[in-house]
Amino acid sequence: MSASSPRGTRIAHIGIAVPALDAILPFYRDVLGMPEVPLDDADGARIAGVAAGESLVELLESEQPDSPIGKFLAKRGAGIHHVCFAVDDLDGTLAKCKSAGLRLIDETPRIGAEGKRIAFLHPSSTGGVLVELSEH
Ligand code: CO
Repeated sequence: MSASSPRGTRIAHIGIAVPALDAILPFYRDVLGMPEVPLDDADGARIAGVAAGESLVELLESEQPDSPIGKFLAKRGAGIHHVCFAVDDLDGTLAKCKSAGLRLIDETPRIGAEGKRIAFLHPSSTGGVLVELSEH
């Protein structure tokens, strides 16, 4: 378990909302040379992943206008949607966030695009950035 081998908090991925995956993927994959990583679709978004060392960039394309990414694109346009931090103890960190009075979007962890347990924190509690916490 992660508790016995702590790795420390690190950036797991950055999620970027894009109008069309096919239009932007070549920049990351072909120009910057970042290897493509297969990811599951999640939350009404089609997701393409590219590796940046141990971290990922997730390109998020809306599949439905009323999905979280669809709403984000309509309101804010393309851009950074969220930052995901991998933590050693997701449940413990989430409990700490709760007791610190932070606004949680997910009260309990669920499965994210990488197949890992994740939970989102509300931007109003995190300096205006949608923060996702995940297990390593
Ligand atoms: Co994410």
